[in-house]
Amino acid sequence: MLEELDEIYEHSLRDLTITPTISELEKWYKRNLGRKGQVTELTRQVGQVSQEDRPTFGRRVNEIKQNLENAYEKRLADLKAAELDSLLVFDSIDVTLPGRRQLRGRLHPSTQILREIYRIWGDMGFQVYRSRDVETDEFNFELLNIPEDHPARDMWDTFHTTTPGVILRTHTSPGQIHAMREYCPEPIRVILPGMCYRYEQITARSEIQFNQVEGLAVGRYITMADLKGTLTDFAKRIFGKERATRFRANYFPFTEPSAEMDVECILCNGSGCQVCQYTGWLEILGCGMVHPTVLRNGGYDPDVYSGFAFGMGPERIAMLKYGIDDIRYFWANDLRFLEQF
Ligand code: DAH
Repeated sequence: MLEELDEIYEHSLRDLTITPTISELEKWYKRNLGRKGQVTELTRQVGQVSQEDRPTFGRRVNEIKQNLENAYEKRLADLKAAELDSLLVFDSIDVTLPGRRQLRGRLHPSTQILREIYRIWGDMGFQVYRSRDVETDEFNFELLNIPEDHPARDMWDTFHTTTPGVILRTHTSPGQIHAMREYCPEPIRVILPGMCYRYEQITARSEIQFNQVEGLAVGRYITMADLKGTLTDFAKRIFGKERATRFRANYFPFTEPSAEMDVECILCNGSGCQVCQYTGWLEILGCGMVHPTVLRNGGYDPDVYSGFAFGMGPERIAMLKYGIDDIRYFWANDLRFLEQF
């Protein structure tokens, strides 16, 4: 009986040392030490052993059981460690592989040119004043001296909302009234940037949405000379010192007198080309002395105060600066275009 015991012990111990995996080990456990395992069965056979051998047999069975339990625990720990080792070898990170490229975003060309414009006007003492994109007819037109049915309204193709009198602003000029009403009677030096909307045929030169940067200076003794000097300085700062500029008389309902400013064509340097339509000049903004009616609508007495205003299109300026020949690129979301800036 005792011999059989030792044989079983040695045999299962040998088995144990060659279990290749944890799941094989669990099977081994069930076979030997489980509820119906052969070693467990042996403990039940104590009754069949002769009286005198019984204590020796019992002690030996318990010893064997304990040894096998210990050996099992050790084997389990070894197998787990081996499994981890092989994971580390086969699943490890290969630090020599090239990394995945990070896609870098960048600022939209409109944002870039806007920031450049803010910086220049900031250097000249102008603050950024933000006003709303959705306006009333009153602010977009009437308070800017453009009465209903006035033919000047034809200059602005308008998006109307379903609420009568509420429209998308066609220019940043209504911000002039907001700024004046907020600051009156203090002097003002602001620029008013933002998106404008026009119900237009989309072409290479015109979009239904675009940015404008409006400018407004109000105070005592502001003259046309201030307007010309300030805008000429701006043009030199953004296009370079050598670039010539000129003013041409024009008409806007909210300024009197009104003008447009041109810069010497950047592509042909003034000798005439397709872009400047052989004039040698490119128009970059509208401007003028704030109309007395507009000053009054903003709360300022036109007999005491005067001011100048201007409105420019940053996308137009970017097109000139970077030689972009189609305004539609700006909102077409084509990375081939956007990545060039
Ligand atoms: N609001 C004008 C426009 O869209 C641009 C403009 C012209 C603004 C003259 C001004 C100005 O402030 O004085 O088209």
